[in-house]
Amino acid sequence: MIRQAIIPLAGLGTRLLPLTSVYAKELLPINGKIGLEYIIEECTQAGIKEIVFIISKKKEIIKKYFYNDAFYKNIIKKKNDLRIAQEYKKIKKYKKMIKFVYQNNPKGTGDAVLKTKKIIKDEFFLMLLPDDLIIKKNCSKAMISIHNKKKCSVMASMKVNKKTVNRWGIFSKKKNISKNNFYIDDVVEKPTTKSAPSNNAVIGRYILPKKIFTKLKKQKKGKGGEIHITDSIRQLINEGEKFIAHNFDGKYLDCGTMTGYIKSSIEVSKK
Ligand code: G1P
Repeated sequence: MIRQAIIPLAGLGTRLLPLTSVYAKELLPINGKIGLEYIIEECTQAGIKEIVFIISKKKEIIKKYFYNDAFYKNIIKKKNDLRIAQEYKKIKKYKKMIKFVYQNNPKGTGDAVLKTKKIIKDEFFLMLLPDDLIIKKNCSKAMISIHNKKKCSVMASMKVNKKTVNRWGIFSKKKNISKNNFYIDDVVEKPTTKSAPSNNAVIGRYILPKKIFTKLKKQKKGKGGEIHITDSIRQLINEGEKFIAHNFDGKYLDCGTMTGYIKSSIEVSKK
């Protein structure tokens, strides 16, 4: 059973400047709702009971968003507004599920995951990268269902344009399980077009085994001087750990770039 999810939120969001100069990118609205709420909803609807937010001192605004009780109580007392009361109720519900850990020096996704080591209880846990919004179909739910059948790690995937492979973790297939699910043979972080084993990319949803922490502890810096989760996954695969790639059915929206972020509001409003 997958009960815990982790969300790395310590990134600076430079690709979305100036929107992120005083604000967290994950709190930016997408069609009237903060981006992070779509991710939280994906978790709760997939049966997740506890969510670990990996933030930094610079991103404490995210914690404040969920801990602004005095402000809400005061407003609700003054104004008898049902909508505000309902929104506050929802925030309180989420707050109960959320734990915070700190990654004050953003050294990469692998380093962010390592910060949750003491909190993760079960053999497997879910990670969602908040820049990757997947709408119309709950990707995490589909991945958890595959995990329950195969009892191994699962990552979301999709085919990307060959010219853009250097933006993604790219994997090669070992064996087909079904039309949309494959065992992975190898995975490389941001390869060049020439060296890429395929154009199958990893998208930001991962069901990872607890044993990844032992790899992350020793993980050296990789592409761009960052500690990548992909490099530890690669080691585990080499040692025989099974990883499945799941080609998801939903629509992918890249909220981490300005054009992607603008497009995401338009796409979500079409729903
Ligand atoms: C991260 C991962 C990469 C993956 C991508 C999906 O990259 O390192 O393997 O393909 O997320 O969005 P980032 O977006 O942090 O550069």
